Amino acid sequence: MKIIGTGSAIPKKTVTNDMLSEFLDTSDEWITERTGIKTRHIITTERFEDLATEAASRAIDASGLCPDDIDYIICSNVSNLYVTPHLAAIVQNGLGIKGPNCPTMDVNVACVGFVYGLDLCDALLSTGRARNILLVAAEECTRFCDWTDRNCSVLFGDAAAAVVVTKGDSLVASHLTSVPMPDVIVYKNPMEPTPFETREGIDTHKALEMKGREVFRNAVTSATRDISQIVESAGLSLDDIDHFLLHQANLRINEAIREKLNQPESKFPTNVQMLGNTSSASIPLLLDSGVREGRIRRGDTLLLSAFGAGFVTGVIILKY
Ligand code: UT7
Repeated sequence: MKIIGTGSAIPKKTVTNDMLSEFLDTSDEWITERTGIKTRHIITTERFEDLATEAASRAIDASGLCPDDIDYIICSNVSNLYVTPHLAAIVQNGLGIKGPNCPTMDVNVACVGFVYGLDLCDALLSTGRARNILLVAAEECTRFCDWTDRNCSVLFGDAAAAVVVTKGDSLVASHLTSVPMPDVIVYKNPMEPTPFETREGIDTHKALEMKGREVFRNAVTSATRDISQIVESAGLSLDDIDHFLLHQANLRINEAIREKLNQPESKFPTNVQMLGNTSSASIPLLLDSGVREGRIRRGDTLLLSAFGAGFVTGVIILKY
């Protein structure tokens, strides 16, 4: 596979830490010190699906293709209004791609969705199932936060980012993992009990729950392991990597990973300070801004690494 276009879209409303401390028992000092986050963007008047479609449209424009050249659409998302139809079908409609020869599907692998999605793109392209794939990562995690709970609501932001991927030989190596830890990050859809429900206390609506410290520890350990192993198995050294695009959950997590790898700060672009944790959109957002601002150039070696609920991780090395 080869990435030929990138795009992104963020909601216009900026929410600062001070704005949160007006109704939560928190402070700019606490949030900045523990997470690095200063602001996040939150959906207000926009429609989430329009944001996803806008990011997709920008990626298609940047690729030089037109929407009808797209013959597969994959969307990564955890949180959005629609359980069904899936987001990829909604984006297809928004882009005016009539089909029928353009399958659409969503992947839900939490914050690792973009990395899993790219790996899937490579499989589809190399087996001839598709020629030009649109991969969109769009999230509105702020919807599943309890806004009276300072533990989670201060961490997230909404955003969408996309890439167009075609046949090529960019992929150097890829490694995906999953270790069952179903209770470290959990969100259950609102469900009404049926007349036949026999269990007591069915969960009807829960906000996101997270064991923050456990996630923190696992994130640092697994990302450091994934990165070291993939670099070695690809016959490279850490110094061969030009840009480490890490999932943006917490600046302290990424700083701990960087220190363990003993690599310079300049190789680790960040957006969590401005955008908060945007789940699977965080890595393609880094990619899009890096490409558009000229920091990521053709031929650069990129390493993408993410972790998330599951507990799932994914790491990819590619020549941009
Ligand atoms: O995409 C993956 C999603 N999740 C993550 O990546 C999360 C990973 N974990 C983290 O980022 C950190 O664990 C957090 C930022 C969530 C929390 O930081 P921490 O340093 O692990 O703090 P803590 O949970 O141990 O809490 C320390 C204290 C507690 O008070 P007590 O019990 O010591 O009195 C919390 O109640 O900080 C309190 N606290 C807050 N205080 C002010 C928790 N949230 C807040 C808040 N403002 N927003």
